[in-house]
Amino acid sequence: MQLGAFRAAAVRGEIPFPRGPCLPSLMIFAEAMMKCLWLIPGLLVFSLAGAIEIQVPDDPVVALFGRDATLCCSFSPDANFSLDKLSLIWQLTDTKRLVHSFSGGQDQLADQGGGYVNRTALFYDQLPQGNVSLLLRRVQISDEGSFTCFVRVQDYSSAAVMLQVAASYSKPNLNLEPNKNLKPGDLVTVTCLTFRGYPEAIVLWQDGQGNNFTENVTTSQVANEEGLFDVQSVLRVVLEPTSTYSCLVRNPVLQEETQASVTITGQHLTFPAVALWVTIALAICLLGLLGALAYVCRKKIRQSCKEEEENAGMEDQDEDGEEPKTGESGLKKVLFFE
Ligand SMILES: *[C@@H]1O[C@H](CO)[C@@H](O)[C@H](O)[C@H]1NC(C)=O
Ligand SMILES: *[C@@H]1O[C@H](CO)[C@@H](O)[C@H](O)[C@H]1NC(C)=O
Ligand SMILES: *[C@@H]1O[C@H](CO)[C@@H](O)[C@H](O)[C@H]1NC(C)=O
Ligand SMILES: *[C@@H]1O[C@H](CO)[C@@H](O)[C@H](O)[C@H]1NC(C)=O
Ligand SMILES: *[C@@H]1O[C@H](CO)[C@@H](O)[C@H](O)[C@H]1NC(C)=O
Repeated sequence: MQLGAFRAAAVRGEIPFPRGPCLPSLMIFAEAMMKCLWLIPGLLVFSLAGAIEIQVPDDPVVALFGRDATLCCSFSPDANFSLDKLSLIWQLTDTKRLVHSFSGGQDQLADQGGGYVNRTALFYDQLPQGNVSLLLRRVQISDEGSFTCFVRVQDYSSAAVMLQVAASYSKPNLNLEPNKNLKPGDLVTVTCLTFRGYPEAIVLWQDGQGNNFTENVTTSQVANEEGLFDVQSVLRVVLEPTSTYSCLVRNPVLQEETQASVTITGQHLTFPAVALWVTIALAICLLGLLGALAYVCRKKIRQSCKEEEENAGMEDQDEDGEEPKTGESGLKKVLFFE
């Protein structure tokens, strides 16, 4: 969506003649008219001769922050083309700041803009084929924008290439406030932090069913000194009995998504390692207890069966009298195991 706005506007057949004299000014009107009239046949000849056809990508070049980028630009040279006839200028479209230039068969970097020193190169082996692409090393956020590729052999032509810089967001960190003794109905603040991404993130909050939270969400994106964004998004929500809060961070250029979520069950939200081990220990104790109980019960049943066999024919009352005894001894064992 945002990419569309950056669609490269190829500027072809740019005329580098001064246009000042053509501006209406009564004092130099006649002179200007003459100059303009002189320009018209020049323009006709120019368009009849046909400018060099320059190929540049229509879509912005997406470069990862800190990596190298290739800004493509090429033309089809004549059969008798030689490198000393080539003049090439790469400059910023807006400010005309020099990024790289090449003429007389070699780089001409005396007037190169400060930020580009040691960061640019051409593909020298491919220049004879008309490939005048620019290699830009260690891309920075400030490199984002439009670059003009200006080529002159006999004719000249230029075209613009758009550079879009991008950086992935880190996996979000989630924090809850308060994070102890939570009860349904409490108002909690869930904070989502993610760092060093570009361009600005799209942050979504969702519950366990994938429904969006739109209310009570505050997101701030702050650029650091490198131009990368640190993002903080805060969701304030009334706690429900069992609830999941997911923070989704999207990078609109890279079409990437990273997320983190927190699920709140029961009284306590956090489940630290100590609590986990205590739980496991308790579970083992409980299992032991159940085992002991089963053992005691089986023993009791066997015993009572035996007694039943032994006391076959005796009155029911005697049997009833014995049961509490075994029950008591069973209880003793349980207590022992506890
Ligand atoms: C060779 O170059 C000259 C100018 O140096 C030009 O006039 C001519 O048209 C070129 N020939 C071909 C075949 O491109
Ligand atoms: C560019 O590289 C040269 C040689 O390695 C070095 O002397 C110079 O300091 C570098 N300039 C910048 C601005 O990094
Ligand atoms: C020019 O060279 C670069 C680097 O090798 C390459 O990526 C690009 O595809 C080339 N362009 C053309 C039109 O050959
Ligand atoms: C949540 O919001 C995003 C972005 O606005 C949208 O693409 C998605 O369909 C929404 N999901 C639901 C379940 O409404
Ligand atoms: C937003 O916060 C208010 C309290 O500040 C709360 O009453 C309201 O229920 C919250 N809205 C949602 C959808 O959680």
